[in-house]
Amino acid sequence: MTKKKTIHDFCDMKARGEKIAFLTAYDYPTAQFAQAAGLDMLLVGDSLGMCVYGYSGTVPVTMEQCIGHAEAVRRGAPDTFIVGDMPFMSYQTSCEVAVENAGRFLKEAGADAIKLEGGVRVASRIKAIVDAGIVVMGHIGLTPQSSGQLGGHKVQGRTLESARMVVLDALAVQDAGAHMVLLEAIPPEVGAYITRALSIPVLAIGAGVDCDGQLLIVADVTGQFQTFTPKFVKKYCDVAGMVTGAMRDYVAEVKAQAFPAEEHCYHMLEGEEEKFRAEFA
Ligand code: KIV
Repeated sequence: MTKKKTIHDFCDMKARGEKIAFLTAYDYPTAQFAQAAGLDMLLVGDSLGMCVYGYSGTVPVTMEQCIGHAEAVRRGAPDTFIVGDMPFMSYQTSCEVAVENAGRFLKEAGADAIKLEGGVRVASRIKAIVDAGIVVMGHIGLTPQSSGQLGGHKVQGRTLESARMVVLDALAVQDAGAHMVLLEAIPPEVGAYITRALSIPVLAIGAGVDCDGQLLIVADVTGQFQTFTPKFVKKYCDVAGMVTGAMRDYVAEVKAQAFPAEEHCYHMLEGEEEKFRAEFA
């Protein structure tokens, strides 16, 4: 059993250049696999809206859904650092609401940290949550909850002006007291600059190899999510193909009465079968 990592371990990893392996998880079995595979950190992301519930985006996701999934992930990965994702409208309205909802991830789900989207514009929320004693991960660059304002799920930081805004957001997140920051969908040179400029660990999802760690969505890694595939995704297996194939085989065997076979059947206790036949023949 490995000891659960803490924010201090992630800072030490940044200092010695050891990369942080970070993946989303939404359920108990996946969390078990992730812990066995040696993930350093798990995110119970609001991407569960698309990956688990089939919504077209993250906006409908509720606190109740996030807490329920975080509880399951905690049970599956008791020794892994877990980050709970603050869903849309769980922190936007006031610092009080933000602190209360952030606290729920720790109290009700046993999470180790929370993540929220935004830089300069959510600095007051980050500070309030940090002041409550909670470990905070900022999330900047492409922020899916505000993709309407960004004109869609668009790569950020591609022009000097846009890159400058991402850098300013990164500095604002760190200055507000966040312990880590996640960069989504920005050019690698901007990711590398921010990683050098910040003292806190910088995680990347589509922000290049020079960041302190990498995040991917588990349903992309396993080939389970089929609706769309961003450029930053690497698919490591084809669960959709494997599971559909297994289900197809099952359907065929049921139709052909090839399943269940003898080895899948329960038999009556010795001597009982004759008695049964005598009574029910
Ligand atoms: O919800 C999530 O999985 C995320 C990632 C897309 C960064 O926030």
